[in-house]
Amino acid sequence: MAPSSFSHRHFFFLIILLLSTIALARQNIPLGSSLSTLQEKTSWVSPSGDFAFGFHRLPDKDLFLLAIWYEKIPQRTIIWCANRDNPVEKGSKVELKTNGQLVLYDHQRHEQWKPNITSNSPATSAAMLDTGNFVLFSSSNSSHLWGSFDEPTDTILPTQILGKPSNLTSRRTEADADYSNGKFQLRLEDKGVILYTIPPYGETTYLDYWKTESVDSASRLVFNESGYLNLMQSNGTNISLTPGDIVPTNDFYHRTSLDFDGVLRQYVYPKTPKTRISWALSWSVVWFVPEDMCVAIISWRGSGTCGFNSYCRLDEDQKPSCNCPPGYSYLDPNNKFGGCKQDFLPQSCELGGLKESSQFELREMRNVDWPKADYEQYKSIDEGQCRQKCLHDLFCAFSIEILKG
Ligand SMILES: *[C@@H]1O[C@H](CO)[C@@H](O)[C@H](O)[C@H]1NC(C)=O
Ligand SMILES: *[C@@H]1O[C@H](CO)[C@@H](O)[C@H](O)[C@H]1NC(C)=O
Ligand SMILES: *[C@@H]1O[C@H](CO)[C@@H](O)[C@H](O)[C@H]1NC(C)=O
Ligand SMILES: *[C@@H]1O[C@H](CO)[C@@H](O)[C@H](O)[C@H]1NC(C)=O
Ligand SMILES: *[C@@H]1O[C@H](CO)[C@@H](O)[C@H](O)[C@H]1NC(C)=O
Ligand SMILES: *[C@@H]1O[C@H](CO)[C@@H](O)[C@H](O)[C@H]1NC(C)=O
Repeated sequence: MAPSSFSHRHFFFLIILLLSTIALARQNIPLGSSLSTLQEKTSWVSPSGDFAFGFHRLPDKDLFLLAIWYEKIPQRTIIWCANRDNPVEKGSKVELKTNGQLVLYDHQRHEQWKPNITSNSPATSAAMLDTGNFVLFSSSNSSHLWGSFDEPTDTILPTQILGKPSNLTSRRTEADADYSNGKFQLRLEDKGVILYTIPPYGETTYLDYWKTESVDSASRLVFNESGYLNLMQSNGTNISLTPGDIVPTNDFYHRTSLDFDGVLRQYVYPKTPKTRISWALSWSVVWFVPEDMCVAIISWRGSGTCGFNSYCRLDEDQKPSCNCPPGYSYLDPNNKFGGCKQDFLPQSCELGGLKESSQFELREMRNVDWPKADYEQYKSIDEGQCRQKCLHDLFCAFSIEILKG
C-alpha cells in the first residue's frame, strides 16, 4: 500500500501547483464581492501588484473616485475613472452583485455608474488584470463581457485598442483634487486620429487642432504590447505614431494620455529594480503632439489654448503655460488654462470715456500676439498714434503693433 499513497502525494502536489499558476494569471473576484470607502481595503489589486481598481480619495476632501491606478508608483497616476465628474461621498460602495451586475452606489445608495454591457449573458466574475484592464467575465464566453479598456478616460495602455466610435477626454486641470472632464478630446474617425477642442456650453462646433496625415480610412488605434501606438488602416498598412525606438515594456510602464493642456503624450516610468536605479522615478515624455500647442489652436471662434484674455508660452520642456497680462489675473486660480479677468474697471461710455482715458495706460509686452482676435486694424501709423487710438477707444483692451524694419 505504501507506494500507492506515495503517488497520491505527488498527485496533490501537481494539482496545487496547477491551481496556483492559474491564480497567478488572474485573481477572480467572485459575485457578491464589494468595496466600500468605509473599509480599510478599498481596492482590488492585479496579480503582479502593478494596478489597482477601487476608491481613490481626493486630497483634502471626503470625496472618492472609482478609478484604476498604478499601485507601485508613489505619485498617484489615475489611468481610468468611472465617475470623474461626480465624485462620491464617504459611505459609497462598488458591488459585483450576485446577479452579475457591477454597480457604483453613492452613500445614499443611489446608482451612480455601471458599465455599458451589450451582451445578454450575465457576468460570473471580475478581475483586475496585469495589463491595467479591469474586466467582467461570463462563464458562457471565454473572452470578457466588458473591460475598462472599452470605456477609456484620458489614457490608453499597451495592449489596449480603440475602435470606432471611441474617444479620450482630457482632465480639466492638472490639480490632484480635480479629475473632471476637460476641454480636449481625441477621437478615432475614418480620417484618422483627430484632436478636438470641446465647444463651451451652448456651442456645438468641435474644432480640430491636430490630425494624422493622409490616412486610408482608419480602422483601429492599437497600443501594442511593445509600447508602440499604431493606427491600422483599412488597406492593411499601419501608421506608427510612436517615432523611433522605445524602451521595452518589460522594464518600463508605458501610457499615452490626452493631457489637460490638450497635448497627447506618451510617457514611460521605470518598472524594474534595474531601471529604477538608473532612471528618475518620474514619468518621462517619449513623444507628443502637437509640436507647439500655443499655436495649434488659432481660430476666429473660441478662446484658444489658454482661454480668454491670456497668452500662451512654451516652457523649457515644450509644455504650454498660460499667463495673464499685467493688470489681469486668472479667472480660476486653480485652473490656469481657464482664462484671465481684468483686475480694473473697464472704461465706461456713460461717464465720457474720453476724459477717463487719462486714468488708463498701455503697458508694453514684447513678442506677444493675439492672433485673429483683432476688431480694429490701422495701417502705417506710428506707435504714438496706435497708443492714442487704443486709449480713446472704449473697447480697446490690447493693441498689437507690428514694428517694421
Ligand atoms: C453602449 O454601447 C453600445 C455599443 O457599443 C452603444 O451603441 C451605446 O450607445 C452605448 N450606450 C451608452 C449609454 O453609452
Ligand atoms: C463573447 O464576448 C465577445 C466580446 O465581448 C463578444 O464579441 C461575443 O459576441 C461573445 N460571445 C457570446 C457567445 O456571447
Ligand atoms: C466619448 O466616449 C464616452 C464613453 O467611452 C461616451 O459616453 C461619450 O458619449 C463619447 N463622447 C463623444 C463626444 O463621442
Ligand atoms: C494605404 O493607404 C495609405 C494612405 O492613403 C497609403 O499611403 C499606402 O500606400 C496604402 N498602402 C497600400 C498597401 O495600399
Ligand atoms: C509594435 O509596433 C511596432 C511599430 O509598428 C512594431 O515594430 C512591433 O513589431 C510591434 N510589436 C508587436 C508585438 O506587434
Ligand atoms: C498592423 O498591426 C496589426 C495589429 O498590431 C497587426 O496584426 C498587423 O499584422 C499589422 N500589419 C502590418 C502590415 O504590419
